[in-house]
Amino acid sequence: MKVPYSYLPQQFADPSAIFEELKAFIPTGDFTLGKPVQEFERRFAAKVGAKHGIGVNSGTDAIKLGLKAAGVGHGDEVITTANTFIATVGAINELGAKTVFVDCDDTFCMDVNQLEAAITPKTKALLPVHFTGYMTDMRKVMEIAKRHKLPVIEDACQGILSDIEGKRSGTWGQCGAFSLHPLKNLNVWADSGIIVTDDDAFADKLRLLRNHGLANRDEVVLLGYNSRLDSVQAIVGNHLIKDMDWITEQRIKNAGVLDNLLSKNKQIRLPPRPKDMRLVYHLYIVFAERRDELLRHCIGKGIECKVHYPIPLYQQEGLKHLGYKPGAFPVTDRHTKEIITFPAHQHLTAEQLAYIGDTVREFYAHG
Ligand SMILES: Cc1ncc(COP(=O)(O)O)c(C=O)c1O
Repeated sequence: MKVPYSYLPQQFADPSAIFEELKAFIPTGDFTLGKPVQEFERRFAAKVGAKHGIGVNSGTDAIKLGLKAAGVGHGDEVITTANTFIATVGAINELGAKTVFVDCDDTFCMDVNQLEAAITPKTKALLPVHFTGYMTDMRKVMEIAKRHKLPVIEDACQGILSDIEGKRSGTWGQCGAFSLHPLKNLNVWADSGIIVTDDDAFADKLRLLRNHGLANRDEVVLLGYNSRLDSVQAIVGNHLIKDMDWITEQRIKNAGVLDNLLSKNKQIRLPPRPKDMRLVYHLYIVFAERRDELLRHCIGKGIECKVHYPIPLYQQEGLKHLGYKPGAFPVTDRHTKEIITFPAHQHLTAEQLAYIGDTVREFYAHG
């Protein structure tokens, strides 16, 4: 049996409704910040419970523009988590600022108990990452941010519709950055992203920043970027956002099934499942003994498992200039050796989920 990691073939198995809408849309020529973009921004903001949505051209830019609007610039320090996708660091770097890492805990998010010790006079913003669809403990982050008068930009690229006590990711800090990349839970057909915020003035600034700082056709009020959400992609987003609740619930359900099956093996340890958080399982990860062998076994049996990620960011060649020594982030280091990601996406069948359970059981049963 095959258990693919990607769900894109099923996600867009019948694109006819989207094509019909594109056919009607193309003659309008409304390609740049057109009506579909405004519609998507409204729908997305409403879905996550924010006042404003500002469509941009990637999740990376959503982070970058959020940081920029919060005043981050050359020489500033931005604190984020040691275990994240490179884009988080790339966004900080693009502004000439320096990334400061804090180790994660077994939720794959920042260990907020270590956050305060990383703050220096150069710290200009906090950038928690809701990695894998978990949530960073934003109650503690916001308390620390308030005490130190620091803006919080949430990297919610993997966390759409996750929440703590019903308050969704992206709505805790000054703004939240989301990715609509083809491999995200809400995905379109190209790179795209969106920022949400409740702050009117901040939203106005973000709208300027994503469009060259143009207040209108002829007036530039600040130096910005070309980072607009494309109207064509907004049309795709407007279709898929209707399925967002189903997608999320299905992933949560599948993760529950896998938790049940996999935890029967004493060699598998589940990460904590906090009752006050809604985890959306952008990635379904567990800790496994003999991880590399299990990974090879599962792949050999047609289950497309992965490791997110095998090399910690702070030890990557391209980030050497940050000056971190091996061993600086022990939890992140341990995770690189223990974690395994199983497919848990919304299009998996009950048979495929059971097959994952059987395959892992069989691996450990036969030593
Ligand atoms: C945690 C995290 N941050 C930022 C990004 C950047 O998003 P994008 O690929 O849309 O630029 C991604 C996605 O790839 C991500 O997983």
